[in-house]
Amino acid sequence: MTWTRDAFTSRIKNLDAARKKYYELLGWRKTIFQDAELPAGEIYVDNNEDCIIQIAHALNGQKSQIILIYGDAGIGKSCFRREMEAELRNDPVIGKKYMFIVIDDPGKYTDLQVLRLIGSELNIDFESKWNNREAVASMILKRLLDNFIEKKVQTIIILDEAQKLSLNSLDTLKQFSDLEYAGIKICRIILLGTPEIFKKLSSPLMEPFIDRILIKFELKGFNFKETAEYIARWIAYSKNEEFKGVDGTAIYPFTPDAVEKIFQLSKGHPRTIRKLCALSIDVRLENPKGIEIDSNIVEEAVKRLI
Ligand SMILES: Nc1ncnc2c1ncn2[C@@H]1O[C@H](COP(=O)(O)OP(=O)(O)O)[C@@H](O)[C@H]1O
Ligand SMILES: [Mg+2]
Repeated sequence: MTWTRDAFTSRIKNLDAARKKYYELLGWRKTIFQDAELPAGEIYVDNNEDCIIQIAHALNGQKSQIILIYGDAGIGKSCFRREMEAELRNDPVIGKKYMFIVIDDPGKYTDLQVLRLIGSELNIDFESKWNNREAVASMILKRLLDNFIEKKVQTIIILDEAQKLSLNSLDTLKQFSDLEYAGIKICRIILLGTPEIFKKLSSPLMEPFIDRILIKFELKGFNFKETAEYIARWIAYSKNEEFKGVDGTAIYPFTPDAVEKIFQLSKGHPRTIRKLCALSIDVRLENPKGIEIDSNIVEEAVKRLI
């Protein structure tokens, strides 16, 4: 019993030591291929720029109301949201014309709390008596209108994880998106969510909401080149180097056939690519007979994917 425990402890220690050595050899940070909040832009692969262009175009026009961006979990919606927001804020026209309100995870809040969050971003000072949705919604509508009339400022409300919004909340957002002054739509709504949102929208009650969707865009995973770029960007970032494009050196210690295998197995789904890379490193460390990570190692790693 003691012997097994000692053997176990020493195996873990050996693995830790092997990891330390391997990372030192390659000049990597400990956090390579880990899913911590990344510094903006460091790893970003620009694979959905056409969607941002469409959104910017819609925001410059008068017609746009609701924009819906959807895609499977891990496809990159939140990552895209950060990039889109940064680009729109930096756009000389849109950045000046709009104020931005972002709610990351409305599922954490009640319908009333979601509205109160939007209201507090608009600097509405709610008194305790504002405890019903209609009252808060009408305060928000009034403030959106005042902001436009007095300061010429329009509002963009961005909600991530929008599949978690209730039908009531979606209906209130629809009301905001209808707000108009002298033929100009004052409040635009951008929703990001998994395809589950379509289940909610399939309710007959939601037909008026669907009528207002101007752009419906499905986020795509990476193609082969973007997959290689993603891996190369992680490696460069981990080595504290600038990303200089993709070649055989930039993806080292992954071999080109390993990258091909990762692409095939992940179908370009970014979260899966990241996990496969991390698991491949684990497999390599358990068989420390070299540095390179080839397609056989990736095939071993995929068995551990959950
Ligand atoms: N365009 C991209 N560039 C770089 N990394 C990305 C990109 N899209 C997604 N990722 C990475 O893939 C993982 C999942 O992305 P995330 O935005 O959280 O997906 P979702 O919100 O759709 O569940 C994260 O680790 C994220 O950093
Ligand atoms: Mg997300």
